Amino acid sequence: MEYINANLSDNVFNKLKDLIYEISGIYFSGQKKYLLETRLSKRLSVLNLPNFEDYYNYLKYSLSKDREIKELLNSVTTNETSFFRDMPQLEVFVDILKQVVQAAGNNAYKKIRIWSAACSTGEEPYTIGILIKENFPSSDIKFEIAGSDISEQVISSAKKGIYGSYTLRNTPPAILNKYFDRIGDDSYSIKDEIKKIAAFHNVNLMNAKEVKKLNEFDVVLCRNVIIYFDTESKKKAITNIYESLKTGGYLFLGHSESLHSITSLFKLVGLGKTPLYKKE
Ligand SMILES: C[S@@+](CC[C@H](N)C(=O)[O-])C[C@H]1O[C@@H](n2cnc3c(N)ncnc32)[C@H](O)[C@@H]1O
Repeated sequence: MEYINANLSDNVFNKLKDLIYEISGIYFSGQKKYLLETRLSKRLSVLNLPNFEDYYNYLKYSLSKDREIKELLNSVTTNETSFFRDMPQLEVFVDILKQVVQAAGNNAYKKIRIWSAACSTGEEPYTIGILIKENFPSSDIKFEIAGSDISEQVISSAKKGIYGSYTLRNTPPAILNKYFDRIGDDSYSIKDEIKKIAAFHNVNLMNAKEVKKLNEFDVVLCRNVIIYFDTESKKKAITNIYESLKTGGYLFLGHSESLHSITSLFKLVGLGKTPLYKKE
């Protein structure tokens, strides 16, 4: 497809960035104008629109605006992820899960619920699934994993569970053999035993109503997401996550992220390998 060669003026950039911010909490500073221009130029080509002003009007007023907002979100989100991302942090996650399992007393009626909020293409929730199978092979407890993201496109890819070798680069070979089927030269499909404990949802962390549909979690991982938000959006997302956690539940952020000067809702219970927060 040939891309339309249009320039994004400061005026239209401001309108588009405000619209994206209002919907998703993602903040594009002036320095990121070029990035937005590159990411959205494909939409101009697909819709056969001559310039970004027309694209903005399409998003605001066309009959297909709801559909196009979804495409906009698919285009502007940064979905970088991988299996076994940040292993030191995942080791802490396993320790915490052991405590949660112990507190549940290996009770067959108990469910332990884990949420990968903003899971992109599914590597994080499936990594959690593998860690559960490896660390609790004979537990009577039922584990449930929810993965969610604002981008419809990545959620549909997560549901398929098919991956190339690059995203699996940190996966130990024994784990790759055990939990994936090779289906092509560079293509691996996650096995059903992991797939069936994860469910995927299209959820915007800014939207309290949408987030409320996912609730009663023991542990939430919201890693490498709030870096894209300004303070106001961080507060919104974290408050929504707080409401979805059980009392006594834990929140993991990315290793460079923190709730400092965002909210005092949570108690900081770990720093070392990872910032770890608890709802008390
Ligand atoms: C860099 S990825 C992180 C994926 C994974 N958590 C990890 O650490 O590997 C960030 C994800 O956040 C999602 N995201 C951005 N804003 C969001 C919002 N308001 N609600 C839900 N997801 C959002 C993006 O679509 C993207 O897939």
